[in-house]
Amino acid sequence: MQSKGVMRLAAKRVLITGAASGIGLACARVMAEHGAHVLGCDIDDAALSVVAGEAGMAASMRLDVAEEPDWAAGAAWARREFGGLDAIIHSAGIGVGGDLTTLSLESWRRQQAVNLDGSFLAVKHMLPLLREGGGGSITLIASVTGLRGSAVFAPYAASKAGVVALMRSAARASAAAGDGVRVNAIAPGVIATPIFGRMEGVNAAATDPVATAARLVPLGRAGQPEDIAHAAAYLASDEASYVTGIVLPVDGGLLMS
Ligand code: NAI
Repeated sequence: MQSKGVMRLAAKRVLITGAASGIGLACARVMAEHGAHVLGCDIDDAALSVVAGEAGMAASMRLDVAEEPDWAAGAAWARREFGGLDAIIHSAGIGVGGDLTTLSLESWRRQQAVNLDGSFLAVKHMLPLLREGGGGSITLIASVTGLRGSAVFAPYAASKAGVVALMRSAARASAAAGDGVRVNAIAPGVIATPIFGRMEGVNAAATDPVATAARLVPLGRAGQPEDIAHAAAYLASDEASYVTGIVLPVDGGLLMS
């Protein structure tokens, strides 16, 4: 149970992508502790089924964020099982790096398909569900690299810059429509999760979060997935009802370095 006795998300129905691992999994755990009904999604349904119960997820399903039919099925599932949704945390993502002069177009496109197409499809298919309920919150997990660029992770940084522009555009559109939907992003810095072991196209030095953080982060250490989850819980809560269109860095000071 969460320690401070504050149920920030009591009875809110929250769909979380990338919920089998790292930041998405921590979001599921923390938000369930705050009273949310968590619907966990991931492409890795085997891993998801192992952690879903322990993390307090109310339900889980396989969803590949790059595949539009999966999103249509996810929306239908949320409508059928939960009568709608109040919030989305879109955390699923992959990290592709490499030298821009030798990077294959195929690698570039795979990166954009998961991180940027996936975010577009999240907004496209989840926004109507939130509107049906009279409003809600969308939080996209971007990255500090989307704001600073990255010599090592250019495809990844470009995808996350796209996520930020998508978020701001959706936030403006919802505000203009008066639909009660807030749209925000979190920009994590260096967070110790399994993604570092899954990076594509980079050398081993770039796959160690502890060494990377020691080198780059003013606070001198990597963050934990829970650091992002607490920010996500805030943005999904009614306490953030006047917050839309922001990129919230949770980065140990990386953006100022
Ligand atoms: P992770 O690798 O621990 O978790 C990512 C999850 O997304 C995995 O469970 C994976 O199976 C799932 N996934 C991958 N492709 C998918 C797809 N096509 N459809 C559905 N699920 C898919 O990584 P982590 O660190 O938790 O990353 C979460 C988000 O945070 C990502 O968007 C990542 O880019 C972002 N981020 C992470 C940072 C870090 O330092 N860990 C820094 C900045 C941003």
